[in-house]
Amino acid sequence: MSQFRIAPSLLSADFARLGEEVRNVIAAGADIIHFDVMDNHYVPNLTIGPLVCEAIRPHTTAPIDVHLMVTPVDALAASFAKAGADIITFHPEASHHIDRTLGLIKDAGCKAGLVLNPATSLSHLDHVMDKLDMILLMSVNPGFGGQKFIPQTLDKVRAVRQRIDEYTAKYGGEIWLEVDGGVKVDNIAEIAAAGADTFVAGSAIYGQPDYKAVIDAMRAELAK
Ligand code: DX5
Ligand code: ZN
Repeated sequence: MSQFRIAPSLLSADFARLGEEVRNVIAAGADIIHFDVMDNHYVPNLTIGPLVCEAIRPHTTAPIDVHLMVTPVDALAASFAKAGADIITFHPEASHHIDRTLGLIKDAGCKAGLVLNPATSLSHLDHVMDKLDMILLMSVNPGFGGQKFIPQTLDKVRAVRQRIDEYTAKYGGEIWLEVDGGVKVDNIAEIAAAGADTFVAGSAIYGQPDYKAVIDAMRAELAK
């Protein structure tokens, strides 16, 4: 894998200084801003919406990766596209019409992806590979930062890596494989070895005073 992307999750940032937190983490070497949207319905927590996405948009040119943990999905996905999101992912069980939701995200000019929870089957990927720019595998149950990485995720990462490689070898294109939850300096190499190329890290980065030191340490692990 030639390119690894590090995506700090704003969930663990200081919400009173979000613009600055976005700028600081990108200046520290991050590639993508991961933006967790929780609705107190699909998950038992409540975070930030399209207005906050719009507010942080001028603070960076880095892609904003919106992870929707909401139901229903479609209207909010459209609002986030207008608010400046670059990538929008959602959980298949939160949408009645997965193909339609993926299509509306792409028609709005964003990259689209599906998010699979630790116990969600890979079969959700079967008939939509052509519409996916990203597959996000949850390595914790969604809803909160700071949880422990579920090790069984590694098998799933390997299986999805194989699917992506087979699909892109046959049809071309590119599909990113992102892992979210409990990613730290001490497990990122193992997750990369299983086949992930994009790493969400919330508490591991924002929980430390020196963001650059953490991101440099992650890159050093990825270069091993
Ligand atoms: C959890 C969120 C994650 C979370 C990760 O539902 O989707 O993006 O912020 O936090 P850490 O890296 O602390 O596990
Ligand atoms: Zn997330």
